[in-house]
Amino acid sequence: MSQRILFVCLGNICRSPAAEGVFRVRAPHHSCDSAGTSDWHVGDPPYAPMQHAARNRGLELRDLRARQFAVSDFDRFDLIIGMDSENLAKIEALRPTGNHTPVHLLTEFAPNTGADHVPDPYYTRDFDGALDLIEAAVDGLVAYLDG
Ligand code: 4NP
Repeated sequence: MSQRILFVCLGNICRSPAAEGVFRVRAPHHSCDSAGTSDWHVGDPPYAPMQHAARNRGLELRDLRARQFAVSDFDRFDLIIGMDSENLAKIEALRPTGNHTPVHLLTEFAPNTGADHVPDPYYTRDFDGALDLIEAAVDGLVAYLDG
């Protein structure tokens, strides 16, 4: 059955748009979006160095635009996926009473990597490392959804 997946990070210009872009290509039978817990980059396209690293592996992110995570997202999606524990804490702080939408870390779907979060390339500058981890975890997520 087709699922609605929301990827969430802090700025919605590096990690979550990359996850959205990978997921769109690998799981076109599901629907997805991405959002940031902050409002810092609302309306912005993905960060240029992330777009560049993604384009180098055949992934085009140019048409995505940042938006802030909203309480209404708990009803609009079947599964919400954050990049680190800070993202999860901010999401959970907004959960309406009685809502049970599952919220998970993306790295839960890439257990073989040993990673417990997706390090923020805005700070680490390791855009390729982030993309490697995101691609592996999105593969795991798609296998979980379709298995
Ligand atoms: P993201 O990375 O959460 O993966 O989009 C960041 C992008 C921008 C900022 C922080 C994190 N910022 O501080 O502007």
